[in-house]
Amino acid sequence: MSRPSRPVLLTGASGALGRMLTRALGAKGWTLRLTDIAPFPDQIPDGASFEAADLVDRDAVLRLAEGCGTILHFGGVSVERPFDEVVGPNIGGLYTVYEAARRNRARVLFASSNHTIGFHERATTIDSESPFRPDGYYGASKVWGEMMGQLYWHKHGVESVLVRIGSSFPKPIDARMLATWLSYGDLARLCERAVVAETTGCAVIWGTSRNSRMTWWTGDDRDRIGWEPQDSADDFIVELAGATSGDPFVERYQGGAYVALDRSA
Ligand SMILES: NC(=O)c1ccc[n+]([C@@H]2O[C@H](COP(=O)([O-])OP(=O)(O)OC[C@H]3O[C@@H](n4cnc5c(N)ncnc54)[C@H](O)[C@@H]3O)[C@@H](O)[C@H]2O)c1
Repeated sequence: MSRPSRPVLLTGASGALGRMLTRALGAKGWTLRLTDIAPFPDQIPDGASFEAADLVDRDAVLRLAEGCGTILHFGGVSVERPFDEVVGPNIGGLYTVYEAARRNRARVLFASSNHTIGFHERATTIDSESPFRPDGYYGASKVWGEMMGQLYWHKHGVESVLVRIGSSFPKPIDARMLATWLSYGDLARLCERAVVAETTGCAVIWGTSRNSRMTWWTGDDRDRIGWEPQDSADDFIVELAGATSGDPFVERYQGGAYVALDRSA
């Protein structure tokens, strides 16, 4: 597979997925620029460099992106938090990332989330054109990120791969993840394809492995980047089928526990 001709900027490098991607893409000898507000805890691979920066520091992020061909945007608030904590990195930060992409003619892979559509019922099947139904401020911030992708594509020709990640962990740990799990290997291969694909336009991709329990999401743009998941949560069906929340409200919706957080009775 071809190597990117320009450096790849990875935000959120010190987080769980960022560390995994640094290992996977660093092993390919890619030139990675890593950044995060937190120190990078692992050994930095050959060909990579790390610089700490806050996503709300516009000058720092614009400087880090100079000359990059792709921005893998994994940084920011990654769980449901009060609005005032989400707004800086996840709303303002997305402006900075897309401005950086516009100035450098770079492509963006945005780590979006299933929480953009969390209030769709599990009994229904939706596609990538279905309406957003965010299940919290975090999910709403991911809707904003996807809207920035659309805006910068139509207005400035900036390409995006908007990945609505289900649950990306080393292995599935509850019954919902039998549907939503995205293996680390499948995510790394998706990122690789998103970087090297000839063109992407503004693509939306459901980020799950080949899980037979995933009946909720269909119809996306994965063919544009030539990605197909290879792993499956099915090996965990016997072990995890009974590991539900026990809350009928939570079990009704695709977003899982987030739909019930801070909910008015
Ligand atoms: N893991 C999943 O299942 C999953 C599912 C859906 C979406 N995502 C998205 O993928 C991305 C990575 O997820 P993760 O599980 O590795 O989360 P994580 O919390 O482990 O990593 C996020 C990183 O962002 C950094 N960060 C937070 N605020 C920042 C700021 N102001 N400036 C710079 N860096 C900042 C954190 O220090 C952290 O290292 C996130 O954007 C998350 O929303 C993950």
